[in-house]
Amino acid sequence: MIVTVQQHIAQQQESLYPGARGTFSWLLSGITLATKMIQARIRRAGLLDVAGSAGGTNVQGETQQKLDVYANEALVHCLGVRDAVAVLVSEENEEPVTFDRAPETGKYVVIFDPLDGSSNIDVNVSVGTIFSIFLRPEASGGPPHAAALQQGSRQVAAGYVVYGSSTMFVYTAGNGVFGFTLDPNIGAFVLSHEHLRMPDYGHYYSVNEANAGKFPAPYPEYLAQLRDGALGREYSSRYIGSLVADFHRTLLKGGVFLYPPTRTHAQGKLRLLYEANPLAFIAEQAGGLATDGQTRILDLQPTGIHQRTPFLTGSRQEMEAFARLALR
Ligand code: AHG
Ligand code: MN
Ligand code: MN
Repeated sequence: MIVTVQQHIAQQQESLYPGARGTFSWLLSGITLATKMIQARIRRAGLLDVAGSAGGTNVQGETQQKLDVYANEALVHCLGVRDAVAVLVSEENEEPVTFDRAPETGKYVVIFDPLDGSSNIDVNVSVGTIFSIFLRPEASGGPPHAAALQQGSRQVAAGYVVYGSSTMFVYTAGNGVFGFTLDPNIGAFVLSHEHLRMPDYGHYYSVNEANAGKFPAPYPEYLAQLRDGALGREYSSRYIGSLVADFHRTLLKGGVFLYPPTRTHAQGKLRLLYEANPLAFIAEQAGGLATDGQTRILDLQPTGIHQRTPFLTGSRQEMEAFARLALR
């Protein structure tokens, strides 16, 4: 008996919020539809001249890949037509996209990285989409930014799609982490990983070693511990350069992923709202941890929709080993 994302969300809603009107599952269907459109383009990137740069740069000053633009347009379109959406925030849009909806209908704020790891598209390496969902604050009269600048602990749901050897949709609504695999024969995401749990420790650490000479303390000491077996086990280094793919491996196999501060990025490179927050919510819901090196990611109070943060996430044992060094 197959369980699709929609059925699962509806079941979750029914058990968690009896009498819910299915607005949330209708909202999620906007994301699953957009990611099916995105994956269809990705699978044919080389054939459709959608690979390569679109010529523009985004707010981050990064070259926009054509698929960045397509993925962003797909999500803004599919979510914009759902009247439950009040505000959209995207890595690719400098300002939030707001919809003039009454507070009782426009209840949700959706924040996303439409295409993560896009520099890997041309070399056929896994990429992803990441999303984070908040309720619009009661005092919704404030500027759209206010609705988006909430602490990660207030997320009502978060997830990602990894366009890898298979296309997987992974999400949490605060009641565990669930994985769905796209079945191309029926065009539906089908439940394949019920109650995903991150192992208590792993055998992989994941960091861009090219930056290793620029990390502040205690990162060098921590990495030396991992390499020297000081934690009581051998580690192998795995770094794909697509956050979603590196995170997905960490979620399933355990270990640790780090994007520390570097000389060029004093606050790290990854963005709090649409990379660190959603993945931190999933990591914690699966029994793992996520910090900025000092503070729990979900406790950080955002001040800007594109702000960056150092990001460490992974299994309890590896994260506690870092904390012992950081909080000495
Ligand atoms: P995006 O493609 O959304 O800009 O994200 C790219 C990020 C993330 O996917 C990955 O972990 C990181 O860039 C890799 O950065 P480095 O190449 O500096 O290691
Ligand atoms: Mn990204
Ligand atoms: Mn991106």
